[in-house]
Amino acid sequence: KRIAIVNGPNLDRLGQREPEIYGRATLADLEQALRAEFGSQASLEFFQSNHEGALIDQIAAFGAARYDGLVLNGAAFTHTSVALRDALAGSGLRTVEVHISNIYRRESFRHQSLTAPVCVGVISGLGLEGYHAAVRFLLKA
Ligand code: DQA
Repeated sequence: KRIAIVNGPNLDRLGQREPEIYGRATLADLEQALRAEFGSQASLEFFQSNHEGALIDQIAAFGAARYDGLVLNGAAFTHTSVALRDALAGSGLRTVEVHISNIYRRESFRHQSLTAPVCVGVISGLGLEGYHAAVRFLLKA
């Protein structure tokens, strides 16, 4: 199976950005850990952008290529982007939304996800383990 792992704005700075919230591991560490766990069973494709349109274009491309699943951390666009939601809805991708932090324990503007209603499920607050759980789920489902 082919699974796409897409990370949105500021997640390129994972490990340096607010480590008390997001931890010290980097996006490269995450990629390495996911490849170590799933690399032999699945083809994993990683994409990160700080740009809304680039995320939308890439999600459409994964959809057109009929990927078997998408793990999406839309970061701040989760709370703001109707366009990102529409891209997911139109992509036909089975999507699991992941947040490293528990968005419900944080500021009220993070409590709403515009993208969650078009996802299979949401994992929030389990740190980087959330990505592992999401890939595991998509490989079984
Ligand atoms: C985040 C939570 C968002 O509210 C925030 O804007 C992020 C990261 C998370 O992974 O916890 O950038 O998606």
